Amino acid sequence: MVLVAPSLLAADFGNLFEQIALVEKAGADWLHFDIMDGHFVPNLSYGADFVRQMRPQSKLFFDVHLMVEEPLNFLPMFENCGADQITVHYEASSDLSAVVKWLKARGIKVGVSLKPQTNVDVLAPYLDHIDNILIMTVEPGFGGQKFMDDMLPKINAARKLIGNRGITLEVDGGINVQTAALCVNAGAYVLVAGSAIFKAENPAQIIQQLQRSGE
Ligand code: DX5
Ligand code: ZN
Repeated sequence: MVLVAPSLLAADFGNLFEQIALVEKAGADWLHFDIMDGHFVPNLSYGADFVRQMRPQSKLFFDVHLMVEEPLNFLPMFENCGADQITVHYEASSDLSAVVKWLKARGIKVGVSLKPQTNVDVLAPYLDHIDNILIMTVEPGFGGQKFMDDMLPKINAARKLIGNRGITLEVDGGINVQTAALCVNAGAYVLVAGSAIFKAENPAQIIQQLQRSGE
């Protein structure tokens, strides 16, 4: 079994509490929040208060994906918002060590994400300090894009780089039942999926199928 993180970006915003209850009841593992600044990525979504307001609605692990330029400037807004993990972009952070330090001091798990063009080797110096690697399998910014097959060797390279460390390997973008199997075979352990889950006729069934990817 692998972990599944429904991305709320594809949920029906008019019925968010029901949508969260639906995926939680279906056995989803994490809940994925996409935070966008209209600068690092050409789109806007929601901010720290959104995460904070969802917190009482769910016991799920809150997986916050920050697609913002210089995350260190935004982190104070996310203090006590209920995030269990915050993943920042390598490309957006001029001082990744400071980000790691800020999150660790608050007991929040540390994730680092890579855009498609960024090589996994850039993470080598940080491996003893991070909890999660997020490989983008689309250009970040929008849900509903097509999975980039050429990211599969990169997932495999990340798996090798992690070795026997307890770092989770997450993939995000264009994940559905078909592409999930490819990712899991390449070494992924956490699958983010937005459209494939929330636009499905039976989201619960898709979550359970995704959890069995690669079996
Ligand atoms: C894209 C976001 C994703 C997005 C995935 O920038 O990071 O989490 O919501 O959406 P789907 O699964 O529809 O590609
Ligand atoms: Zn995301």
